[in-house]
Amino acid sequence: MPSSQTPSTHPSLHVLRVDASARFEGSVTRQLADLMLEQLGERVSGLSVTLRDVAAGMPFVDAAWIGANLAEPEAREAAQRQVLAKSDELVAELMAADVLVIATPVYNFGVPASLKAWVDQVARARLTFRYTEYGPEGLLAGKKAYLLVATGGTEVGSDIDFATPWLKFVLGFLGITDVEVIAADRGMLRGDAARHKAAEHAAQVLARDWPALAEAS
Ligand SMILES: Cc1cc2nc3c(=O)[nH]c(=O)nc-3n(C[C@H](O)[C@H](O)[C@H](O)COP(=O)(O)O)c2cc1C
Repeated sequence: MPSSQTPSTHPSLHVLRVDASARFEGSVTRQLADLMLEQLGERVSGLSVTLRDVAAGMPFVDAAWIGANLAEPEAREAAQRQVLAKSDELVAELMAADVLVIATPVYNFGVPASLKAWVDQVARARLTFRYTEYGPEGLLAGKKAYLLVATGGTEVGSDIDFATPWLKFVLGFLGITDVEVIAADRGMLRGDAARHKAAEHAAQVLARDWPALAEAS
């Protein structure tokens, strides 16, 4: 993690890593996230990471959740607070992060259901966005997000990629507008080249965003 050889201009940094691949072995996105965090740890002296593996289980919102969320916080009954407890925990994790690393495959042209479920849990009126007379306002400004996206045949950024634009949009809705997409796309067609290109891109982006002192001087 932190390297003694690369003193950093960034004293401490907290990352929330969100994994969404249903594969725990051989996952391109999980490997990319590992690599990225390893390299970030070499650039930032005080890196801490919270891992949220949505593929390991994520509840769906239901009628009780919606009712509890709509109720004024002070008016919520104990049972309603309980219903929102997991969502509160996920929101707190997100709020605590300086940097978000979301590692996700494209499943059927969108994001995995588990990642959609996570977004549903963290998009909370009053907490992560609010409605104003000028329209909705995201309340999570100031965070940076890296989206690590893997696909088999779909080109990231093409008309049939609904995952990346949706993720960017919904993060922006929450106020996270500084979003970098790192694509290991069309792996079925490009083989290892897709992964290697993405790893190169990730290294470039980290060098740009987190210059170590040695490079900065
Ligand atoms: C259920 C499922 C649906 C998929 N749908 C798509 C798709 O719509 N487009 C695509 O390009 N690849 C699709 N793929 C391929 C994955 O995006 C690709 O294998 C990716 O590398 C998976 O991420 P991972 O390696 O981190 O598990 C799908 C894979 C699965 C398992």
